[in-house]
Amino acid sequence: MARFLTNKHILLGITGSIAAYKSADLVRRLREAGAIVRVAMTENAKQFITPLTMQAVSGFPVHDHLFDSAAEAAMGHIELARWADLILIAPATADFMARLATGMADDLLTTLCLATKAPIALAPAMNQGMWRATLTQENEARLKKSGVILLGPAEGDQACGDVGPGRMMEPADLLQKVNELFRTGTLAGCRVLITAGPTHEAIDPVRYFSNNSSGKMGYALAEAAREAGAAVTLVSGPVQQKPPAGVTMLPVVSAQEMYAAVMRNIGEYDIFLAVAAVSDYRSQTIATQKIHKTDGLMSISLERNPDIAASVGALPDHPFIVGFAAETENVIESAMQKRQRKNLDLIVANRVGDGVGMGSDDNEVTVLGEELTLHLPKTTKQKLARELIAIIAERFKK
Ligand code: C5P
Repeated sequence: MARFLTNKHILLGITGSIAAYKSADLVRRLREAGAIVRVAMTENAKQFITPLTMQAVSGFPVHDHLFDSAAEAAMGHIELARWADLILIAPATADFMARLATGMADDLLTTLCLATKAPIALAPAMNQGMWRATLTQENEARLKKSGVILLGPAEGDQACGDVGPGRMMEPADLLQKVNELFRTGTLAGCRVLITAGPTHEAIDPVRYFSNNSSGKMGYALAEAAREAGAAVTLVSGPVQQKPPAGVTMLPVVSAQEMYAAVMRNIGEYDIFLAVAAVSDYRSQTIATQKIHKTDGLMSISLERNPDIAASVGALPDHPFIVGFAAETENVIESAMQKRQRKNLDLIVANRVGDGVGMGSDDNEVTVLGEELTLHLPKTTKQKLARELIAIIAERFKK
């Protein structure tokens, strides 16, 4: 099962080899596993498979020109290089390997490879003689030395009638290999409990109050922690997110339910990520029947909900705790105070409002801890979650 590909941005590069006919199947498999795939093709690749086919299977227009102003306006090559979590070139010809190995940027695909910070993986496909050629072998060694990942080639019958090494790895095998590239292992053997989403505080049988939390950050962290090898439990308030595969879900509605679910289980966990936007107050009474309107003002008495993060922080033998502080003003100062007050190991501070933070797809945060202030610039919540898990894993191990 390819469990680590959900929401991964894969830029598939196709170069001019007969194996390109298999690239359509590869895209289909990557998408079935949850990845988002964009395709870039060289001119020679188009001799073997059409851009229209690749557009149809990927769901995005194909990128094929470095100097196409319309394509650049839609998503420029630098933006595309940044978008990618992985650049996968399948099939990769001997010529492409040679150009990449010398650092050339003479077409869109080589330019993307030079510009990106994402890992680059190649699935070579060529005649066995070309693969065995000393120059290709030297290029392979040079690419590996600069961090490029080589997937294959496989051995066997070749389109030209030869038998030997040089076949592109089969799409099913490539899928597994690519999946493994996203398994980080930094939290292998750890148990992580995460709260996410808002809580609903009932007023009567049909009404409640709540907040704008979408649960996206908590769900992305659950996924990133699982990718890092942790056993993850997600205590989730009511959200529209799809439960991440391989994560134990404990759905709750109110803050009191969330508190009970966390406190009942916390002894079994090494790390607690309090990501939920827990309602600080609840209605003192919940009407058993729908409240009818009357003239004049209406008032509801509110009482405090338990503070889950602080309650975990007060436990004598508490796990490593990471809190989140969404603030509209004095972001860093308030977050630092919260970290002290709730006895948290780390707090992740972010400004909310004006389209960032709560509810949006992007976030920009500052991680604060004992002698730690680390700013993580604006990016998708998925990417941010992976960066945060790497930082959390490092601090936890210390
Ligand atoms: O709401 P506040 O800004 O205090 O939240 C800071 C941190 O405390 C967050 O990590 C949040 O999940 C947690 N919290 C909690 N229980 C509450 C309120 C907040 O766990 N009742």
